[in-house]
Amino acid sequence: MRGRNTAFIILPGRTDVVMCGIVGYIGPRKALRVVIDNLKKLEYRGYDSAGVAVVENGRPVIVKKKGKIADLESSLDGQVMDGQLGIGHTRWATHGVPSDRNAHPHPDCTGEVVVVHNGIIENYAELRRELREAGHKLASETDTEVIPHLIEANYNGSLEEAVRAAVSRLEGAYALVVISSREPDKIICVRKDSPLVIGLGEGENFVASDIPALLRYTRDTYILDDHEMAVITREGVQVKDVRTGEARPKEVFTVTWDAGQAEKGGYAHFMLKEIHEQPTAVRETLRGRLKEGGVSLPEIPEEVIRDARRVFMVACGTAYHACLVGKYLMERIARVPVEADLASEFRYRDPLIGPGDVMVLVSQSGETADTLAALREGRNRGAHVVAITNVRGSSIDREADAVIHTLAGPEIAVASTKAYTTQLVALTLLALRFAEVRGGDREQIAALVEGLKNLPELVQEVLDTEDEIKELARKYSSSDDVFFIGRGLDYAVAMEGQLKLKEISYIHAEAYAAGELKHGTLALIEAGVPVVALVTQPDLYEKMVSNITEVRARQGRIISVVYDDDEKAREFSDEMIRIPRTDPLLAPVLAVVPLQLLAYYVAVERGCEVDKPRNLAKSVTVE
Ligand code: G6P
Repeated sequence: MRGRNTAFIILPGRTDVVMCGIVGYIGPRKALRVVIDNLKKLEYRGYDSAGVAVVENGRPVIVKKKGKIADLESSLDGQVMDGQLGIGHTRWATHGVPSDRNAHPHPDCTGEVVVVHNGIIENYAELRRELREAGHKLASETDTEVIPHLIEANYNGSLEEAVRAAVSRLEGAYALVVISSREPDKIICVRKDSPLVIGLGEGENFVASDIPALLRYTRDTYILDDHEMAVITREGVQVKDVRTGEARPKEVFTVTWDAGQAEKGGYAHFMLKEIHEQPTAVRETLRGRLKEGGVSLPEIPEEVIRDARRVFMVACGTAYHACLVGKYLMERIARVPVEADLASEFRYRDPLIGPGDVMVLVSQSGETADTLAALREGRNRGAHVVAITNVRGSSIDREADAVIHTLAGPEIAVASTKAYTTQLVALTLLALRFAEVRGGDREQIAALVEGLKNLPELVQEVLDTEDEIKELARKYSSSDDVFFIGRGLDYAVAMEGQLKLKEISYIHAEAYAAGELKHGTLALIEAGVPVVALVTQPDLYEKMVSNITEVRARQGRIISVVYDDDEKAREFSDEMIRIPRTDPLLAPVLAVVPLQLLAYYVAVERGCEVDKPRNLAKSVTVE
């Protein structure tokens, strides 16, 4: 077990990003009631559609609806469903827009096999083609739908064997739950890279993607590991290795948390949980995007990239800070001029944007009013509009010409963390794609692609230093002012670092380009004032050290963010935050993580309401 957090009990070695919610039930009760009750326990995580399937008089009946569980319940009104085997799902769209059709569960051609799925099937396009050629009728735009059809194609009298054969064809991440009217006495589920928990009852059993969905009925669980499958009947649960079919011993894990703790995966706050989800969020956003020496971004037509005169990156808040990094990367790697702009400023300044320009809107929610208005402004003036968003089906997602989705999963804490790091990843991919098309340096592109592959592990290494940052937070939590300084990319990260601290701890924090200090702000530095200095850009190292010296001459205290092999850092630092060495252009993804943790622990130390800071909203849909 890693770390001190109970969340690692659930998901050994990593924290998964759960994008959708899964529940299932077999037993003497009306399955529909249990499934709906348990789905509601997953509502807090956000979703865009919901659905259920119950085996009724020997046939699975599927009801699914875009929108909320309440909408699903209204469409169930008047339907008699007494079946005792059922599954349910809340969907957070990843492939295909939110719609009734794309909602889960998904059936095979006969309607006898029904599946709910969390995760991403990477080779789904190829499997769809193959299944279509074999005569299967696929009705949705989802990756999931290939699964029931693969099970149908492999069914030779044993659902278990058919599921195993289907799974052997899948690449990607999946938590699968399968039921079938052909064998209506069981639920079969399989896990790889996406969590599944079995709830153990008396004469009844449950399955869910997340513990909160079980707690109303049981606290005894089996936590499935990767490549495990479970065959669940009323009387018992058999866990097997899905690859070999051999039985796997399982220990019962009894949940001792209350429902509130369980929602946060055992973490004290959503923000901390989301900070810890970053290795997975980054991995998911990169999934399928990296190829030998280059990147895959088919969403944006090559001629748009080739002919682009300029790029405008426009957003609000944290997403704007991601744009500051994006501007730097795009100009550096692809040599295209970029303007980074606040959405609320962009639209009111009669912007010089038009045909031949590419506009990149960055938004976690896809609903921020100012960003949406800027998008329309740019589009009306003839720019090609690319969105980077975390929410499929959101207004910005629907209105853009092309979209790169960040796969951070639902972000609940107001202070954005995993959305930001995945935005950085998406912007890096975009810059690399521009460089590829426009004849950028092949070696540099290949080196960055290699660097990206290692990022999830390196983010985890930074998270492993959490205790040291907690200690630092304790030491500086009573400060009145904190400054953040950096040059180049480090300045962009300083902007995000100060925002995190400001928004959740209410400490006055400011970010400055380190070279600007001496033009005014230095007047504010006096004995003991903490200054967080980011020093991750080798070509600016000496200049940064000079600026740090200016602070130290006024007895300001330097908390440096430096590479772990930087031998000189001790000489100019009062405190050091170490990050693993990476390509300096990728350093922002690592350097921001300790700043998120610092803000978090300072806020906790000061007794602030971390997940819901005063006066702020997660999604600002007014201008
Ligand atoms: C709000 C949130 C910020 C967020 C900004 C932009 O102010 O509190 O955390 O960065 O909106 O949101 P978006 O959803 O467009 O990324």
